[in-house]
Amino acid sequence: MTLPVGELLNLSGKVAVVTGAAMGIGKAIAARLAEAGASVVIADINPEAAQKTAEELINDGYKAAHVQSDASKIEDAERTISQAVDVFGDVDILVNNAGIYPFTPAIDMTEAIWDKTIDINLKGTMFFCQAAARAMKDRGHGGKIINIASIDAFRPTGNVAHYDASKGGVVMLTKALAKEWASLGILVNAVAPGSIATPGTSASITGLSDEKKAALTRAFLEKIPLGRMGEPDDIAKIVLFLAGPAADYMVGAIIIADGGYLVN
Ligand SMILES: NC(=O)c1ccc[n+]([C@@H]2O[C@H](COP(=O)([O-])OP(=O)(O)OC[C@H]3O[C@@H](n4cnc5c(N)ncnc54)[C@H](O)[C@@H]3O)[C@@H](O)[C@H]2O)c1
Repeated sequence: MTLPVGELLNLSGKVAVVTGAAMGIGKAIAARLAEAGASVVIADINPEAAQKTAEELINDGYKAAHVQSDASKIEDAERTISQAVDVFGDVDILVNNAGIYPFTPAIDMTEAIWDKTIDINLKGTMFFCQAAARAMKDRGHGGKIINIASIDAFRPTGNVAHYDASKGGVVMLTKALAKEWASLGILVNAVAPGSIATPGTSASITGLSDEKKAALTRAFLEKIPLGRMGEPDDIAKIVLFLAGPAADYMVGAIIIADGGYLVN
């Protein structure tokens, strides 16, 4: 059956869980999914910020709830998905967005920085995927899982080897799970953002002088053919596409959205 164009992004009646959704890219994703009609669970390690984001969506007339949840903890993955089912009755969409990118030259790498980055970015993605897929399978339907990778999975930025390794892992994990779960109707895909202006990217350059910040921004922009950094909504719109019926034949795809950085 061919769906009318207006239905291709319709998520009415769907339940979505977005990790790291209190701010940045995750917040923009949650807002787009809610606007498309989904009930959205804002899962974030920061409970006050998660509550604020959920309240903003509710005040705008959308359906939202918040859960304090640490993406690096397997028990939090299981609890978050079961809370989504308790509150909204089901789970249809999972977006693994929570991630950290602490700058550390590899020569100074510590076990703690390595483990924390891998645990949140890669292990967390695996076990949130597993918890959501188990719930979808138990409930006898498929779903959509969208993982947020990075251009760093394809080309290292520098001084984030641990991050690059984690996002390279997210790309291959996406393909591996997509292959295993397509027969269950669980479609796993990823988005690889380029440089997006978020609270996280601002925080990563705090402490630098204004001059250094300006030089860093200039150097980055020179590498982006489109000539601008991305906005969180540049990524949210692609996640919305992957979450809806428009992407019903996409399995294991990695969509790059980087203003042309990787073709430069
Ligand atoms: N901003 C970029 O330029 C960029 C580029 C490529 C990929 N990404 C990826 O996009 C995602 C979001 O990045 P952002 O820039 O919006 O980040 P951000 O730092 O602005 O926001 C991250 C959110 O995740 C939450 N969070 C942090 N640790 C968590 C944990 N352990 N469990 C649950 N929530 C946690 C934070 O509280 C916050 O709400 C990350 O996976 C990041 O690697 C970002």
